[in-house]
Amino acid sequence: MGFGHIPVLVEEVMTLLGCEPHQTYVDATLGGGGHALEILKRTAPDGIVIGLDWDEEAVAEASKALMSFGERVKIFRENFIHLPERLKALKIEEVDGILLDLGLSSFQIEKRERGFSLKGDGPLDMRMDQRIDRRAVDLVSRLSFQELEYTLLKYGEERWAKRIAKVILHERERSPIETTYALRKIVHQAIPRRFHSRKIDPATRTFQAFRIRVNEELENLKEILEKGWTVLRKGGRMCVISFHSLEDRLVKETFRRLERGGEDGSGQGGVVQVMTKKPLRPAEEEQRRNPRSRSARLRCAERV
Ligand SMILES: C[S@@+](CC[C@H](N)C(=O)[O-])C[C@H]1O[C@@H](n2cnc3c(N)ncnc32)[C@H](O)[C@@H]1O
Repeated sequence: MGFGHIPVLVEEVMTLLGCEPHQTYVDATLGGGGHALEILKRTAPDGIVIGLDWDEEAVAEASKALMSFGERVKIFRENFIHLPERLKALKIEEVDGILLDLGLSSFQIEKRERGFSLKGDGPLDMRMDQRIDRRAVDLVSRLSFQELEYTLLKYGEERWAKRIAKVILHERERSPIETTYALRKIVHQAIPRRFHSRKIDPATRTFQAFRIRVNEELENLKEILEKGWTVLRKGGRMCVISFHSLEDRLVKETFRRLERGGEDGSGQGGVVQVMTKKPLRPAEEEQRRNPRSRSARLRCAERV
């Protein structure tokens, strides 16, 4: 699909969204356009998809992939936190469903120049939106010891945060840390060898931490999880696919709080009903076919 990104949990998402002809959906993380394509097929002949992605390349590729749908798809290069304003500008008051498929598209991970991957050497960039004025290299070279440790703990849940922060500080005094391989090497050095996992690169959590911080991923997610309901019709659903526990926890807790409503837990004033008591996970067959889907968790809530 698109440029090599295989959409995950497609059937599950479509079932939960309950797409029907004539409806209007938001794909807030368009990527290669895989999920959007399915929504467009199921809402034919005149359903509409508003697609957002803040990555220039994603917008270009999804536009190409979905071109044949003409006026039925409207694509914007935008951070999804601006969804309400975008819909207002389009004079759309409410939509029938919203999809958030978080994390990275395969093409972002695979391009070493983007600096996300541990597999190929590249600049320490990690911006999903090329307009963001902070790259991973800025954090690695400027954060204080305390800030580095905090970033690794909070966004990477990295137990070796202190040691990694210490080695970063030490190494950057000798020469600037500017590439993915340089950072990876430092993390490998910092974590005692006997704790290196054979299956997962020891630098995975560090990379996750810097990526989340560069893109303010949790802040953005928090904001759309609060705001999204204002543009969703009653009975409309929001589906969120997350790829790590920090995201999934935030989705779970926000949905539950919004379902409870008043802080007293009386159920008065709840704005949503949770449709997935437990997150849905890809079936074994999907995990085999698309290994990247392994960590995916899908949660859904309906506006009441
Ligand atoms: C996993 S991919 C989506 C793949 C897509 N569902 C498909 O089928 O091809 C996630 C996409 O969300 C985008 N993204 C992440 N955070 C975003 C944000 N705050 N605003 C807009 N787009 C965002 C990324 O740039 C990336 O292209």
